[in-house]
Amino acid sequence: MSRTIFVTTALPYANGSFHIGHIMEYIQADIWVRSMRMAGHTVHFVGADDAHGAPIMLKAEAEGITPEALVARYASERPKYLNGFHIRFDHWHSTDSAENIALSQDIYRKLRAAGFIDSRQVEQFYDPVKGMFLPDRYIKGECPRCHAKDQYGDSCEVCGAVYTPTELIDPYSTLTHARPVLRSSEHFFFKLSDPRCVSFLQEWTNGTQINGAKRLQPEVLAKTREWLGTSEGAEANLADWDISRDAPYFGIPIPDAPGKYFYVWLDAPVGYLASLQAYCALQGLDFDALVDPQGDTQQVHFIGKDIVYFHALFWPATLKFSGRKTPDMLHVHGFITVSGEKMSKSRGTGISPLRYLDIGMDAEWMRYYIAAKLNAHVEDLDFNPDDFVARVNSDLIGKYVNIASRAATFITRHFDGALAYVGETDGLQAELAEVVEQVEADFEARDYGRAIRRIMAQADRINQAFDAAKPWVLAKGIAGADATQKAALQDVCSRAIAGFRALSVMLTPVLPALTERVALELFGETRSYRWRDATQLPTHITAFKHLMQRVDPKQLDELFEPPEPEPTLPGGEAIAQTIDIKDFAKLDLRIARIVACTEVEGSDKLLRLSLDAGEGRLRQVFSGIKAAYRPEDLTGKFTVLVANLAPRKMRFGVSEGMVLAASHADASVDDGLYILEPWPGAQAGMRIS
Ligand code: MSP
Ligand code: ZN
Repeated sequence: MSRTIFVTTALPYANGSFHIGHIMEYIQADIWVRSMRMAGHTVHFVGADDAHGAPIMLKAEAEGITPEALVARYASERPKYLNGFHIRFDHWHSTDSAENIALSQDIYRKLRAAGFIDSRQVEQFYDPVKGMFLPDRYIKGECPRCHAKDQYGDSCEVCGAVYTPTELIDPYSTLTHARPVLRSSEHFFFKLSDPRCVSFLQEWTNGTQINGAKRLQPEVLAKTREWLGTSEGAEANLADWDISRDAPYFGIPIPDAPGKYFYVWLDAPVGYLASLQAYCALQGLDFDALVDPQGDTQQVHFIGKDIVYFHALFWPATLKFSGRKTPDMLHVHGFITVSGEKMSKSRGTGISPLRYLDIGMDAEWMRYYIAAKLNAHVEDLDFNPDDFVARVNSDLIGKYVNIASRAATFITRHFDGALAYVGETDGLQAELAEVVEQVEADFEARDYGRAIRRIMAQADRINQAFDAAKPWVLAKGIAGADATQKAALQDVCSRAIAGFRALSVMLTPVLPALTERVALELFGETRSYRWRDATQLPTHITAFKHLMQRVDPKQLDELFEPPEPEPTLPGGEAIAQTIDIKDFAKLDLRIARIVACTEVEGSDKLLRLSLDAGEGRLRQVFSGIKAAYRPEDLTGKFTVLVANLAPRKMRFGVSEGMVLAASHADASVDDGLYILEPWPGAQAGMRIS
């Protein structure tokens, strides 16, 4: 029975490029989508950028651009990655879209009408300088337990204590360094604790799907049982969910509540529907029918283990009580680690997907390696360089490609490409049918590792049968050989090639580009493979063409090397570690006019500068340039100010920034000190980038 399936992956935050974790998730989903299509099902596979929230707003502000422009910039680089890894979404959208605004507001209105929205006053830290409520991650201070300085608002990295931001000693805003004040404001809540919610979720989480598949993997179900209080010894502990944020916020306005926006996680999953809706409009498909609660579309979400709470509780509940179709299946994966280490976005370890492609590594190697290591459980997956080289070279080249290269050579040389089988072929077809049926089921159950093991075991059998028949012996003196010997050689090679073609069918979800070439260039087949193609026996093969390169271990070294070697200057200071443009963008450098400059009593190094950086006020900056300049030489000149440096309390007062000057790196060489001055025309407040 042909099914209609709506598939999504988690929507990536639009304040960063894709990392290898994203690519892994998309490869996993893409393989599933392709395998379901090979069975004849109709699949709509969509993604989108998750555009809203405070971090995106603040990052855009720091770069001096609008959040829309920031989101657009990341959106524009997505296709490079997706096409590069053969990840074929039908549509890619944004949560900052007309569809998402309408859908999110509609869902909210329905929830409110059904009595699921509450409002109450919430007291939170507020940054009086920035004029905004501070998410916990933007509050730091001294740990109330071990007194370590500069700890985050929710927990201490030094002693592990967990607390609320209000417990911090001397809290400060990481945005302005101002001391936050407690302020109260009205917030809206989704009543997750409502008994209707709890009983719905108990039923939903236990659901069973077509083919007896469970809605949730066992370990995910166990987690939801803890949350729902249905596992032994657990108590239902569902807190109502705070779904509103106060302006300024980059998000969707809450209807009838001026200055209030939906918390990003309310509208983010709605983005799945928005993307499908936009896709339907482009394709002339019936969106309402696809998301009809009474309809039979299957809705499947691929997500990582860190966002289960949102997808297994909030998302189905908000859909249910706004009268919409609820998800049919969640598929949760673990995290990819690299050589056993967790990825760190900031330290840039891990694998850069773009670098992988740029240095000419084959995207299908990665797809194969990830597939071989994935199973249906929520387990982490380690990328190990040696293992990667070994698997790709021994499985894909040594076992799979090798069959075609060896067998096709005999067929081309002696039989002009014609394949022929001696005796019955039912046994061969039955053997292939059995394997392909199991492999198809493994893919549907998302146990790709098992599918790959079966495929490679079949490749081993094909290679063994081929070797046992010693075709190179049969081919000796073939010109003068009798018809039986010729037929035997042709038969051995034909069976191997039929097996190779079946392997190609089975590898199609994982290696879509390679198997498309196999179909077209070796067998002259113009459409991509379906599962049922595996048992058909080919009748000819064209001359073998190079199919896939081996991995060169040197490529792995190159993948992990820092992009550029750190040059050292002869006799000078080594150039500092490479940073990327994002690191540079953190610096806010401004043109400042030196309005006044005076000596500092009691200091023989410092001058006190009054700077106009176009802010409508003057800044005081102390600078250690007294040895090089007289105050009257500087007054009225323009220079460069590091404008977002944290203010520093000095003996003579607070210094609010730093002016830039050049000097020899080696302090023992006295070549002087030179303050920077822009070319004529620059004005106070201009940004330097
Ligand atoms: N924007 C939210 C999701 C909203 S869904 C309505 C988000 N974005 S994310 O960019 O942080 O993560 C996107 C997906 O990547 C999530 O499924 C997450 O689990 C996954 N991964 C992030 N790091 C990962 C690994 N190291 N390995 C595998 N997947 C990882 O969360
Ligand atoms: Zn501590």
